[in-house]
Amino acid sequence: MSIIIKGGRIVTAADDYVADVFVDGERVSLIGESLDLDADRVIDAAGKYVLPGCVDPHTHLDMPFGGTVTIDDVESGQTAAAFGGTTCHVDFCIQGKGQTFADALTDWHAKAEGKQLIDMGYHIAITDLSFDGALEELASLPEQGVTSYKLFMAYKGALQVDDETLFKAMEVAAGSGALVMVHAENGDAIDVLVKKALAEGHTEPHWHALTRPPETEGEATNRAIQLAHVAGCPLYVVHVSCKEAVEPIALARAKGWDVSGETCTQYFFVDYTFLERPNFEGAKYVYTPPPRDKANQELLWDAVRTDVLSAISTDHCAFRWDTQKSLGRDDFSKIPNGGPGLENRLQMIHHFGVREGRISLNRMVELLATNPAKLFGLYPRKGTLAVGSDADIVVFDPEKHVTITAKGQHSKIDYNLYEGTEVVGTPETVLLRGNVLVAGGELVASPGIGRYVARARFGGELARASQPVAA
Ligand code: URP
Ligand code: ZN
Ligand code: ZN
Repeated sequence: MSIIIKGGRIVTAADDYVADVFVDGERVSLIGESLDLDADRVIDAAGKYVLPGCVDPHTHLDMPFGGTVTIDDVESGQTAAAFGGTTCHVDFCIQGKGQTFADALTDWHAKAEGKQLIDMGYHIAITDLSFDGALEELASLPEQGVTSYKLFMAYKGALQVDDETLFKAMEVAAGSGALVMVHAENGDAIDVLVKKALAEGHTEPHWHALTRPPETEGEATNRAIQLAHVAGCPLYVVHVSCKEAVEPIALARAKGWDVSGETCTQYFFVDYTFLERPNFEGAKYVYTPPPRDKANQELLWDAVRTDVLSAISTDHCAFRWDTQKSLGRDDFSKIPNGGPGLENRLQMIHHFGVREGRISLNRMVELLATNPAKLFGLYPRKGTLAVGSDADIVVFDPEKHVTITAKGQHSKIDYNLYEGTEVVGTPETVLLRGNVLVAGGELVASPGIGRYVARARFGGELARASQPVAA
């Protein structure tokens, strides 16, 4: 199957020009002006942007958490992603306590079996290094394309690891070429604050934020940075929400340390006051770190614009409000932590970032596609439009008006963080490796088309699409 995308404005992290893109099979095979080539399908992209498919480095599909399981499985989550212009994501494979990493990966591959609409990889989320051979097994994971280790410094009694485990994982990563990712909050201090708040009778959703002050995020971020430096491994701080965490990252980067970080779409738009909405509406915004005050929102825009933060992810971790968030009606600490976002990242960042003049179009592509692909070993197969890259392509209509609603979304969740927001600009046609996924507002591909992608080690070069994709 061949496709020619004619006359669009091709935007990558580095370039911005009008040309045709010729796709032969799964790859981009030619880019040029007024190409005179026959193709099985012609897509007229005049007046449209032609972007690389977005890469989301942080999602939680079909994940047991907070006494329930995230509502989007691989199929519904990836459907939402496809409509939003995301063609590849890296999800978290969570190791059960005492479970080998091989067994954990087998479980998570099984969840995806036959359901994939877009390409995906896994980070391994480490919860336990105490079993025999754990460190050796961890060191071998990059051979299977699992080239990032995630550790939670919060969620005491559940996913949280102690500093010994964190540091051992960092030492392994320094030798294995993996990138260490941290959820940076001081879980012990938060646990004390939560217990105190509950003992004083505070049960409402906004206490989620009051018991997780920005300093607990700042402290853990700095601790992780210092430990990673001692271990000599690269570090990526997930879902950065506030000044207290941005500052140590900025300092480390200024010193030339191998530290990077992301924020998530919601931290630009949802602030603390959303948690105070009456009748338990606030529970919709219970995710971690919590929504902060408005001052942090402009600070985060500055951080992504100036490359203090390198990526914008969604941390899509969707729980329905009616049946799942309700677990915490009488106790904020029992509200499953997480929010949705896979479908609206590109629309929201394009409208409020690019159209409103906060970041350039090139920087948007860099934050949503190129940098996540580079940091997580997917580049240049993913994250750019170049000859030889996978033909993961978004034809984006920059003038189309859309109102974001839960009713119109493809996730199984019953609310949308941006309900009623009017944006200009939305994906029109989405291709995954040369296959049309979304066109004319419809999903036109079937589950099974997406693949597991083995990723390169941190800083390593991934083979181009002409190489087989390991399963
Ligand atoms: O509240 C959140 N962010 N839930 C997902 C798990 C995590 O911490 O990333
Ligand atoms: Zn987290
Ligand atoms: Zn997360």
